[in-house]
Amino acid sequence: MSNDPYAESGEFIDVLSRGAWEALRVPLAQALAQARPDQGPIVDIGAGTGLGTLVAARAVPGADLIAVEPSPILRAALLARLAGDDMSRRVTVQATDAGGMVLPGRLGAVLAINMIGHLTPDHRRALWADLRPRLAPAAPLVVNLQPPPEPVAVPETAFTSVPVGRQTYQGSGGARPDGPDSVVWTMRYRVLTEDGTVERELVVDYPWYVLSAQMLLDELAAAGYAATVGEMDVVVATPA
Ligand SMILES: C[S@@+](CC[C@H](N)C(=O)[O-])C[C@H]1O[C@@H](n2cnc3c(N)ncnc32)[C@H](O)[C@@H]1O
Repeated sequence: MSNDPYAESGEFIDVLSRGAWEALRVPLAQALAQARPDQGPIVDIGAGTGLGTLVAARAVPGADLIAVEPSPILRAALLARLAGDDMSRRVTVQATDAGGMVLPGRLGAVLAINMIGHLTPDHRRALWADLRPRLAPAAPLVVNLQPPPEPVAVPETAFTSVPVGRQTYQGSGGARPDGPDSVVWTMRYRVLTEDGTVERELVVDYPWYVLSAQMLLDELAAAGYAATVGEMDVVVATPA
């Protein structure tokens, strides 16, 4: 995709996302206890480097999965994660975005983790409508909410710091309002040497559509789902 917001920052996404995934792993696996792999595949929309795809594959043994990922650099990391792992036989990668994915008529579960703010409100609502008749009875659509819930400023905050060899990878970010339903997250990625010197720094802007829990619950109800917000702001919706 020519407008891939991860084209430059893709290098940093996996290493700096692992901590967040430690906290997301259990709520996601619990939500997937309702998956219906006998009815259809589990779809991971915006799979990134596959951290959630891996959780899903392990949580639902034997399930087929479709990992949808538009960014070439993140897809490369996803394919590297799959290579040599037993689960690679079960995961089909689609090199496209949510609007371009090709799905079967029946799905066993759907994930949209750490990605929903990339979709415009219209695209988001179209997605709920498209998925609703495909989801098997009681099968979950799992979406997580991310801050801010409304278009407000978020001061720059350090998110994570990960030692790799003699260097440390750091991620920080802040957001500024950018219209009635969106912000721009400005993320700063740094590589520090042992003495704390900044060896490299990359600053990237990501447009992000904000979504509060109530907005999401209302949209899902309007699209024919029953949904609840759980631990780590993980929303589980099932066809009503
Ligand atoms: C912050 S990353 C999260 C990746 C992964 N779900 C995770 O939690 O580790 C956001 C992901 O959404 C993807 N993405 C962006 N726009 C998208 C769209 N319109 N449809 C599907 N995925 C999209 C990005 O390429 C990226 O992989």
